[in-house]
Amino acid sequence: MSRSVTSVIDGEHVVDGRTISSTNPAQLDDVVAEVVLADASTFAAAAASAKQAQPAWADIPPPVRGRAIAHIGRAVEDNADTLARLVAREIGKPYAEALGEVREIVDTCDFFLGEGRRLYGQTVPSEMPDKQLFTFRNPVGTVAVITAGNFPVAVPAWYIVPALLCGNTVVWKPAEYSAAAASAFHEIFVRGGGLPAGVFNVVHADGEQTYAGLEAALEAGDVDKVGFTGSSAVGRKIGELTGRSLQTACLELGGKNPLVITPSADLDLAVEGALFSGFGTAGQRCTSLGTVIVHESLHDEFVARFTKAVDAGAVGDPSGEVLMGPLLDEKFASRFEEYLGWIQPHHTVYGATGRITAENPRPGFAGDPDAGLFYHPVIVDGVRPGDVIFDEETFGPIVGVTTYRSLDEAITLANAPGYGLSSSIYTNDPAEAYAFRRGISAGMVSVNNSTSGAEAHLPFGGNGKSGNGSRQSGIWVLDQFTRWQAMNWDYSGRLQKAQMDVVELEPDTQFRLPE
Ligand code: UN1
Repeated sequence: MSRSVTSVIDGEHVVDGRTISSTNPAQLDDVVAEVVLADASTFAAAAASAKQAQPAWADIPPPVRGRAIAHIGRAVEDNADTLARLVAREIGKPYAEALGEVREIVDTCDFFLGEGRRLYGQTVPSEMPDKQLFTFRNPVGTVAVITAGNFPVAVPAWYIVPALLCGNTVVWKPAEYSAAAASAFHEIFVRGGGLPAGVFNVVHADGEQTYAGLEAALEAGDVDKVGFTGSSAVGRKIGELTGRSLQTACLELGGKNPLVITPSADLDLAVEGALFSGFGTAGQRCTSLGTVIVHESLHDEFVARFTKAVDAGAVGDPSGEVLMGPLLDEKFASRFEEYLGWIQPHHTVYGATGRITAENPRPGFAGDPDAGLFYHPVIVDGVRPGDVIFDEETFGPIVGVTTYRSLDEAITLANAPGYGLSSSIYTNDPAEAYAFRRGISAGMVSVNNSTSGAEAHLPFGGNGKSGNGSRQSGIWVLDQFTRWQAMNWDYSGRLQKAQMDVVELEPDTQFRLPE
């Protein structure tokens, strides 16, 4: 059954516009949704309407907004299976992973429902008597959220849940190829949370129209904060655009996440971690493994065990128990083919590459490979700085391998591509773990765990090409969706001038203890 998906602004469906199909990447003749795309002016109108709705939403006491988040969490749990099945069908993520992703929304709601009763400010002493200082968190206003489709429901929740809790209204632009999952998410939030019309709006649009609409909305003063998850290239553009309005966007961008294996590591554990983070979600997480940096003494043994594990991994129909399903969408499949073109003669590739078909088969494939966008998982050995495949993100099922001699060299290699999202080290030596943590430029560091699988209440975000230092999740994201306001209240009945009318105690600077 295919759904019909439209934008929803101020509670009204926008039925006019160009229509595209969102298809199942595991079975391309299965149309999941017909999606009506809005244009730039519709995006800008959504922002204007969200701006109008914001003061009334901010007037609802935070504990009451927290209750709405609690209701949303419960509604997501009650619809978890249906939502996960829709995610699996629309983007080809194995069902178990899709269910984990839905769980991540619930975790986020669990965290923020209590924040409604905190959202603490501080009481701060003044340097003068009969005067008190305070801090308050104020909502920023209207938030535009633009997200990718590899985590079509979890990552949007990381923005939308805290943004709403803090008293902001939201315009969300999901990926076109995950529009059905987005529409289901929007319905659950609005209906399950009892959100007033206009508080949470969804606009389906392509990238070009979204950019133009965002530009107009920023100029009109209708967007106060942008949250963006996607490529580093588009993140740069959004950063420039918001900078013109003196805003800093919350940017969660690409990664080239390293996994270092030291001589003291449990090699089987490292292989398991490399397999999950390299090929889970078909390598299409921003936290996916980019390059394994293995100590030279372990290289041959690691490669032998890793290739064996990848060969044994089930690939195919994501409704079954598989390591990986198809790529997200045609756009990602054709980009992945470009990345395969980055393999050079000095690299060693194990096994077949390219699209899995009847002519280019994968032993044990689950289902019909010709029905969808299935690709062979690839290991490229012998990568090094200066190779495009080492330096750039390769979104998809491809993992590079390189070697190191000293830990300093491993850290230099891990930082070399200039991203800085996630990283991992497998070691049983605490000194190595701490040295790696200190030296690595990434926002996230795993020890004896893969590069993927961040928990929903730790700061999530990157540095360098992975972001502008903004952090999502947990208490840290509150600084994205609130602005600190400082208040001072003088009840002395006279003008007390800061820095000038301050009592000074006289220290005896000559005092010394008797010898
Ligand atoms: C992303 O790919 O944008 O840590 C987010 C993880 C997931 C989130 C990935 N929980 O891999």
